[in-house]
Amino acid sequence: MAETERTYRRFNRSQRLQHWVMTVSFTVLAITGLPQRYALADWAEWMIAAMGGIETVRIIHRASAVIFILVSLSVVLYLNSVKSRTPSALRLEGIRVLSSNTTNNARI
Ligand code: HEM
Repeated sequence: MAETERTYRRFNRSQRLQHWVMTVSFTVLAITGLPQRYALADWAEWMIAAMGGIETVRIIHRASAVIFILVSLSVVLYLNSVKSRTPSALRLEGIRVLSSNTTNNARI
């Protein structure tokens, strides 16, 4: 019997964008933060020089921190708005949510 395989897109465009902005900004924070934390180590001196010197590294770290904080806030606000929209969205689509006692429909 041939199985038909269907794929569904799990995350929408803004969720994917949030995810990547958060991933990149945190990675940049780690890359610029760790050599500042261990500034006297050889590898840290090398990394700071490779990134254009300590002043540049500090500016990049601070800029990434602002981006990271904003995207973190946007994720929280987004999840909150999805949560508050969900019941009415389900109702619009005529979907009823079953309670744990599956004989009764939960009020949503
Ligand atoms: C692996 C992650 C991180 C490491 C190792 C790290 C390390 C550091 C270090 C060592 C400093 C002090 C720099 C100095 O002495 O001037 C610093 C400053 C700072 N970090 Fe991070 N950090 C990390 C992640 C973050 C995150 C997630 C945020 C914000 C969401 C952040 C925001 C800041 C800010 C605003 C400063 C002050 C900037 C400055 O004085 O130049 N850092 N970080």
